[in-house]
Formats: sequence, structure tokens, C-alpha cells
Amino acid sequence: TDKLPSRPEIFDFHGVSMTHYFTDNWENIQNFQARPDDILIATYPKAGTTWVSYILDLLYFGQTERQEVVPIYDRVPFLEIIISSYSGKDLVDNLPTSPRLIKTHFPVQFVPKSFWEQNCRIIYVARNAKDNAVSYFHFDRMNNIQPEPGDWTDYVHRFMGGKVAFGSWYDHVNGWWKKKQTHSKLHYMFYEDLVEDTGREIDKLCCFLGLSRSDEEKKRVTDGVHFDNMKKDNMANYSTNSIMDFKISPFMRKGKVGDWKNHFSEAQSEQFDEDYEKKMTDVTLQFRSEI
Ligand code: A3P
Repeated sequence: TDKLPSRPEIFDFHGVSMTHYFTDNWENIQNFQARPDDILIATYPKAGTTWVSYILDLLYFGQTERQEVVPIYDRVPFLEIIISSYSGKDLVDNLPTSPRLIKTHFPVQFVPKSFWEQNCRIIYVARNAKDNAVSYFHFDRMNNIQPEPGDWTDYVHRFMGGKVAFGSWYDHVNGWWKKKQTHSKLHYMFYEDLVEDTGREIDKLCCFLGLSRSDEEKKRVTDGVHFDNMKKDNMANYSTNSIMDFKISPFMRKGKVGDWKNHFSEAQSEQFDEDYEKKMTDVTLQFRSEI
């Protein structure tokens, strides 16, 4: 059996906290050749990447045999990941389908320039900071290629300081939000909206992508990507993945808005909010931490 990759250290990479699993292929990634019809799904980790990847996969390709045998992380490859011979970029280069659906967690300034030159459609998914932090904490506990999260109290401070893989949540969501002003083919969406009304968000996605799908088809997608369905679908729930320990925490953990209330103490929450106000000064970008 394969040896488990070891837990990485965080280091500063062009001003962003990163780990080597996402920077080792840097040159190749920066030289990546995008195609005009490529669709990039960009997120801060744990904002709903897999959910939106699955929605897009179903919208474009429907329920095919591929759905039943190829895990979502190979259908929608994670561009910058490299774990010895497993390379997201190679997976993208070998994708048999068109359009290619590509996932990235890069902050906007790290995105290979070809995506902008080719004027690709980009979907950014954002999630409220507190739930995002909770989800990331549990993910770091169970995922062997993520840095050790330590205990929750330490973790919250590290999250606030941006000392987690892919850097500061605050910089990430703000950086991508600003990009929306100059790149018209950027659809910025929120995890909370998806939870509130998945069908409505799928309609908006279809509109952005220029897809016409019948009500029946859209309903099939909406039902297919329900949390309970994805949780039990081995091609969507990451259970085929050997770097994660599901005894510690499942990948499809809760899928809720407001789970942060079960983790933050009152004092932690107050401190977090105070710091948040200082960092999130753009009033046009608003998150909901409950619905
Ligand atoms: P929780 O840890 O809060 O449960 P990503 O795909 O970006 O890694 O995000 C994972 C988070 O999205 C997890 O959050 C996961 O449960 C949630 N998620 C995945 N599929 C979902 C779905 N169909 N509905 C709601 N939440 C979903």
C-alpha cells in the first residue's frame, strides 16, 4: 500500500501562507494553458467546492457511467495539488470531457494568467468566516496533507491571522470580490444562498453559464446534489481517498449554516467579530452566518 504523505508545514509563499503540496508544481501551474471554454471553480477551502463541482458536473454531463466510477476530485481536478506522482494539472490535461471543470483554492493573484487571457468563466464560492473556520478545522484534523490544526482555540487564532493553507480567508474573499469588478465572467456565489435555495442558485448558474436546462433536468440536479445524497455517494464523499481519516471526521460533515455556534465560546465569538470588523471594511461584501 502507498505510504501516507506526511503533514506539511505552513510557510510564506509570495505573502500567502501555503504548504508545499500546493506550491511544488508552481512553474507548471503558472504556465497552464487554459481553453476559452474551461470553467474554473475557485474557493477558499471548505466553502462548498465539492457541492458546486458536483452541480456543474451534473449540469454539463448528466448522470453517466463516469459519475459512478470516477470520484469527483478526478472529474473536477484540483489544479495546483501535487502529491508525488498525483498531479492535478496532469489530470486536467488528460480530462476526456469538454468543457473542462477545474478547481482551485488559489487566492486571485495566484491564478494562472491564461485563465484571464482566455476570458474563461469563473465561479467563486464563498462561505461565512465562522462556519468556514469550523469546517476547515475538522478537515485539517482528518486530512493528512494538511498541517496539524492543534486545538480549536489555537486554530481560531491561526485562522484569524491567516496562518492556514491558502492564507487569510479575509484576503481571499475580498480579493476575489474586487476581481468581479474587472472580470465580468466571474460569478460570485455564497454557500448560505445554496443552503437556503439550491434550485434558485442553480438557475443563476445556468444563466451565467448560458445553459438552458428543462425544469425536470434542473430538479434532477437539485435532488442529486442534496447533502444526504452526496454524503452516501462514494464518488462524491471522498471515501475513496487514502489521505483522509474518516474515523476522525467525515468529509461530508454537517452541511449546515450556523454550526459555528457549537464551537465558538461567547468570548471567542466576540473577539472574532471585533477583528472581523477591522478586516472586512468593504460594505458591498456581506456574509450571513445564520439563515
Ligand atoms: P461542513 O464541514 O460544515 O459540513 P469543500 O467542498 O469546499 O471542501 O467544502 C466542504 C463543506 O461543504 C463541508 O462543510 C461539507 O459538508 C459541505 N457540503 C458538501 N456538500 C454539501 C451539500 N450537498 N450540501 C450542503 N453542504 C455540503
